[in-house]
Amino acid sequence: MAKEKIILTGDRPTGRLHIGHYIGSLKRRVELQNSGEFDKIYIMIADAQALTDNFDNPEKVRQNIIEVALDYLSVGLDPAKSNLFIQSQISELTELTFFYSNLVTVSRLQRNPTVKSEIQLRNFEASIPVGFFNYPISQAADITAFKATTVPVGEDQLPMIEQTKEIVHKFNSIYGETLVLPEALIPKNEAQGRLPGTDGKAKMSKSLGNCIYLSDDEKTVKEKIMSMYTDPLHIQVSDPGHIEGNTVFTYLDAFSTDAHFQAYLPDYANLQELKDHYKRGGLGDVKIKKFLNNVLQEELAPIRARRAEYEKDIQGVYDILKAGTEKAHEAAAQTMSEVKAAMKINYFDDVELIKAQAAKYTRAE
Ligand code: TRP
Repeated sequence: MAKEKIILTGDRPTGRLHIGHYIGSLKRRVELQNSGEFDKIYIMIADAQALTDNFDNPEKVRQNIIEVALDYLSVGLDPAKSNLFIQSQISELTELTFFYSNLVTVSRLQRNPTVKSEIQLRNFEASIPVGFFNYPISQAADITAFKATTVPVGEDQLPMIEQTKEIVHKFNSIYGETLVLPEALIPKNEAQGRLPGTDGKAKMSKSLGNCIYLSDDEKTVKEKIMSMYTDPLHIQVSDPGHIEGNTVFTYLDAFSTDAHFQAYLPDYANLQELKDHYKRGGLGDVKIKKFLNNVLQEELAPIRARRAEYEKDIQGVYDILKAGTEKAHEAAAQTMSEVKAAMKINYFDDVELIKAQAAKYTRAE
């Protein structure tokens, strides 16, 4: 049998998901789901990982499970094709983390660039909680428990996949071929990979108040777009404008297609023409913002509509998560038993072992 193609990915439930999550990962997941190329798809709400830096605020994590689940369903993840589940309910993931941590050194974890910058962001420099420090190892457990071959993630997650690959190599070389080597799948263009906040700051983040959420209503989205950061030197319409660092253009790079121009701004064939005009001068910010609004509303309208349907049946959403978690548990339990066998800690299942031990103590009478 050819090797199965399996996807695993997930998100921390620390807030509602925004259009940065969408263009950086969710949209691609739905395309992959609908491509029919994958044998299994696991989408995980990473609550245990969220607790590594929110251990003092479990209510926040708890409240956001349903938000993330609704966001998943509303973008078109289909529970008949994609298994949605909750990380903390799969005890094998913590078990694997424990055994994998034997294979990773402290200095290797310290070199992980994503962890490094997160430590700074959270002011953990002086004293890093061990759980947080270990989360790349737990992420390796998430990925390998499901034998994932493909991990669609944002670019910031590449160091985690690298770390996972190292663990897989080390595990397999010590204990024998057991774990599957995953590959990361990252966004196609740079703007999609790192969408800045509406204020032009590097990242969309709830605390900066610069996010457009998938669940924002039409009016809110429009208001946020109309007050977006553009080019501070572009004061008069006639002034030449800058594209670089201009958030509206970054969003257009991420979201707009030539078809959008035909539909909403037919004076321009494509984004390049619009950029050229902006750079020459004579193109106002309001016009480009209105265009962006049309583009985003078109993308978000079906998502909003689907969300509204699922919001009417919250019990049903929990049922979806529960069923998904049960299936995920079966898959992880299978891997766990293979890992235990490889690591020689499957004492009670190992008939040969017990026989051999008995033979050692069998004396010729
Ligand atoms: N670290 C990821 C994030 O911050 C979430 C995550 C946890 C994840 N485990 C994973 C992503 C495994 C991919 C694979 O969004």
